[in-house]
Amino acid sequence: MSGLKHITIEQNVEFLKRYAFFERAAMRALAGWLPGVPEWDAKNEIGLHVWESADAVDVIYNRLRELRCHQPERNISPALPIVAAALDKSANTAEVIATVYLVIKKLLLEALRIHPEVTWSNFDNPTVKLTEQVIPALEQQVAWAEAFLPTIIDRYPDWEIWRDYVAGLLASDGGINGVGAKSSPPDRLEGHPLLLPWMQCQRMPDWPIFKPEEDIQPDRKTDPEGYRLWRFKHYTNEMTAAETLGSILWMTPEMSWEYQHNVARHLWDELRHSQLGQIRIQQLGLNVADVPQVVQIYNVMMTLPAVEQYALLTTVLEPNGMPEKTTNREHWEALQDEISAAAVSYDWSDENFHVRWGQKWTPVLLKTYNYPETLEEIRVRMEAWMIENTPVKMQQKHAHHEY
Ligand SMILES: [Fe+2]
Ligand SMILES: [Fe+2]
Repeated sequence: MSGLKHITIEQNVEFLKRYAFFERAAMRALAGWLPGVPEWDAKNEIGLHVWESADAVDVIYNRLRELRCHQPERNISPALPIVAAALDKSANTAEVIATVYLVIKKLLLEALRIHPEVTWSNFDNPTVKLTEQVIPALEQQVAWAEAFLPTIIDRYPDWEIWRDYVAGLLASDGGINGVGAKSSPPDRLEGHPLLLPWMQCQRMPDWPIFKPEEDIQPDRKTDPEGYRLWRFKHYTNEMTAAETLGSILWMTPEMSWEYQHNVARHLWDELRHSQLGQIRIQQLGLNVADVPQVVQIYNVMMTLPAVEQYALLTTVLEPNGMPEKTTNREHWEALQDEISAAAVSYDWSDENFHVRWGQKWTPVLLKTYNYPETLEEIRVRMEAWMIENTPVKMQQKHAHHEY
């Protein structure tokens, strides 16, 4: 920021456009990588950060509209999409964390911290407020990445090379706000094929994988404790729904920002449902690393295009699953199991929005990607596909109205 005293309102708009661009690029890279990261704890953080990044973008877009900028990606520097693509092209967890957090988010945090001194704060108070709103999450994200990365680097040699390359790309375009000294971009590195979208979701090699034939549902009435443990184990596997939404979000960049903001929240909600399962099974004495992972549902859904995955999730699986949640809440309330009842009541509440978003966005997806079907036609087709292809018996039962 050397020599820069106060920026004009037009420069302010250009800075904010770049901040929003980088948060959106971070959201997109993290969403695409959610299934590709095998480390469970990192997956849980990354899913939260997809939503926090989306929300930061939304806050900045709102301010840009107040400053009469309605197309925040218009006339953006051509170097920026190259930086964004390089985030996606990371090769593993270490490279994702090093580039997204320790290059982009860290520099963004520094820029936002000094922004109030750079802009005419006395006149630009809403932008100062924006920085106060966005900074705390960024601080936590960067602090997490700085603490977490050293714990995994043994598995991922040479991660620094990709970090330095991405940092070099950014620096060559004048840094986060684009006003630093420009230089020629670093030479393209060989051997970094794009791994997105992940066709198979990744887990640590020693984690057990779900076996459909061993998935026996205990009777709710005669074996309430067995049923409860079984049900919350299935909750932990909503991680795969979050991962599915990560890939859907990554594969549908043509859709509006409002859609992407909703999908980012939907993703975090499914991650929260996995976490409520994890919290509950740990309270009941199980370790999440011992719960067989239903990776099959993500993997089989990835044989479908993004539009069909979204329709399957929001017009079949989610509405079909809702009556069971109501039954479970009543069941656990009758047993005075307040914790289980509270968990499922928040899940049910979230699902109402997911189904509503499905009704809103599935028709737009069908139109955008040139499907000839109506909402009802794709719902019927996806339900038939699900009954044929899902490895989870519970999902088939819900389709047949058995709760
Ligand atoms: Fe869910
Ligand atoms: Fe949901």
